[in-house]
Amino acid sequence: MKIGMIGAGGIAIKLADTIREMEGFENYAIASRTLEKAEAFKQTHAFMKAYGSYEELCQDPAVDLVYIATPHSEHLKNMELCLKYHKPVLCEKAFTGNAKQAKDILARFEAAHLFVTEAMWTRYLPSRKILNDLLASGVIGKPYLVDANLCYPNKAHVRLNDPSLCGGALLDMGIYPLTFGLMVYEELPSQIYAQCKKSETGVDEATVGILTFREGQQAIAFTSMLGPADRNGHIYGDQGYIEVINCNNPERIDVYNANHELIRSLGVPSQISGYEYEILECARCLKEGLIESPVIPHKTTIDVMSIMDRMRQQMGIIYPFER
Ligand SMILES: NC(=O)c1ccc[n+]([C@@H]2O[C@H](COP(=O)([O-])OP(=O)(O)OC[C@H]3O[C@@H](n4cnc5c(N)ncnc54)[C@H](OP(=O)(O)O)[C@@H]3O)[C@@H](O)[C@H]2O)c1
Repeated sequence: MKIGMIGAGGIAIKLADTIREMEGFENYAIASRTLEKAEAFKQTHAFMKAYGSYEELCQDPAVDLVYIATPHSEHLKNMELCLKYHKPVLCEKAFTGNAKQAKDILARFEAAHLFVTEAMWTRYLPSRKILNDLLASGVIGKPYLVDANLCYPNKAHVRLNDPSLCGGALLDMGIYPLTFGLMVYEELPSQIYAQCKKSETGVDEATVGILTFREGQQAIAFTSMLGPADRNGHIYGDQGYIEVINCNNPERIDVYNANHELIRSLGVPSQISGYEYEILECARCLKEGLIESPVIPHKTTIDVMSIMDRMRQQMGIIYPFER
């Protein structure tokens, strides 16, 4: 499968490094807004083709899947380009700037019977099934609370601090602990409460969200670009609890009983980087003629964007394109 990438930035490098290790997949084309940058990326990461515009890449008939690796603000128009040339898409998270954009573009892909999915990579990881199996086994009883965090010292990160690029901690990092909680309860929260510390540029730089679900279960997600945190996630049940070491890319899953005794410690399968699973799922869906992945149905993408919209509304974060 020939992969074409749009945006020669940080995450494109990580995906290219991953694809290089995958059998049956090829780092085929890279597109940048300037040809010089695309050529340099092509040389460094051993791509076949370099394009100086995103449109040229979409016009290449050999591209089997377009991976969109630009800031969230650009995703909608990048996907519109892919739609124009009928190219299947794997688009980075956050999928769009808000739920309205997500709903709109997903409906247009569905009408065109064209595959698109969100690169919310933690949903594709094998650790998700390991956790689901543990929860189904009843080992910790009924979950009543989840907490998770993802924080990095990103205060100087230009993209994250720029409102016009849909910056802020929530859409970039907070989406992971939020997703961690949503994957446990597998339903929409009935109540959402969010608070943030705003940056000088007007984006959320440290954000806490509390979600309440139908039967009163809760999830606390926090994210910050002010410094590091442990990245761990916990699922507390009425008979014990689970600790996930690194909710962003699980390394180990520890199970404790109500006496705080470690009763199981599970590893995850060895992996290239973890990004390979979203690529494998795209290939499977395309082979089977699917237009969305059951791993993250389009409705889920819209629901998560809607939750983040409501959080931003409470925090007073409005992006320039929404004014
Ligand atoms: N899955 C993950 O683990 C993960 C990790 C990091 C980021 N991400 C997501 O991936 C996306 C890109 O993040 P990144 O960290 O790779 O960003 P980045 O390093 O800033 O790169 C983004 C690229 O987008 C292109 N671009 C297009 N329009 C742009 C604009 N107006 N301003 C700036 N750049 C623009 C640029 O490429 P050209 O100059 O070549 O056109 C730039 O290099 C984001 O949506 C982010 O949330 C995901």
